[in-house]
Amino acid sequence: MSEIITIANQKGGVGKTTTAVNLAASLAVAEKKVLLIDADPQANATTSLGFHRNDYEYNIYHVLIGVKKISDIILKTTLPTLQLVPSNIGLVGLEKEFYDNETRKGRELILKRKIDEVKKEYDFIIIDSPPALGPITINALSAANSVIIPIQCEFFALEGLAQLLNTIRLIKKTINPKLKIKGFLPTMYSGQNNLSKQVFADLTQHFKSKLFKSGDDEFIVIPRNVKLAESPSFGKPVILYDVKSTGSKAYQHLAQAILAS
Ligand SMILES: Nc1ncnc2c1ncn2[C@@H]1O[C@H](COP(=O)(O)OP(=O)(O)O)[C@@H](O)[C@H]1O
Ligand SMILES: [Mg+2]
Repeated sequence: MSEIITIANQKGGVGKTTTAVNLAASLAVAEKKVLLIDADPQANATTSLGFHRNDYEYNIYHVLIGVKKISDIILKTTLPTLQLVPSNIGLVGLEKEFYDNETRKGRELILKRKIDEVKKEYDFIIIDSPPALGPITINALSAANSVIIPIQCEFFALEGLAQLLNTIRLIKKTINPKLKIKGFLPTMYSGQNNLSKQVFADLTQHFKSKLFKSGDDEFIVIPRNVKLAESPSFGKPVILYDVKSTGSKAYQHLAQAILAS
């Protein structure tokens, strides 16, 4: 059975793409078959894996509007068990096109129907979503078994969270009853920063049962780590760039926690 996990938070710059790419890669290194779907028009997950605009002709946009099958556009990556559905800036403006041709109920399930065609080939499908609660994110949440919510350990971290949780609740009630919150993931944590500690304390107070734990029963926190920020410019997940970095280790712990759950 494949598990479909969407990484979502309507705020930009909180670590969604970093989490999607590095969780996907860490699961692949653990010999799981993984499909990473880049559903953000900014295509940062696609470029993080070393693909540039001219390297691929078709992207998720062509799949969503029905011009291509998802299996036609999947790219191989340097990790043998990690594959990618690329995105492209062409996704912008897509909402209108794919919403126009669909009934109200059908339009939230377009991505799910496309994923259904290939999901048996994979152990995990990880979806990176855009920084908005628009149609693409709704589709990504409607297609998923669960959602991981990265929370940046900075000022305003919890702002907008109520709105996201409401959206998740609504989708669960109407379109996707099986949707679960897999967990909240504190990102860019810095032990020297009091604000970071405060955000983490708030998270443990409100969502303790929804934080990930490592094998030794510690909460999993993604540290602020320069290797995580650098690796995309080399077109590599951090595990192939600096496997021993604190950032790489944290995402490996996250993958292990998910494999153990
Ligand atoms: N743990 C981290 N340590 C250092 N830099 C990070 C970390 N997580 C993300 N970044 C950097 O912060 C920026 C935003 O992260 P990103 O994953 O693209 O967020 P989002 O997808 O939510 O917009 C990127 O430049 C990324 O490289
Ligand atoms: Mg992103």
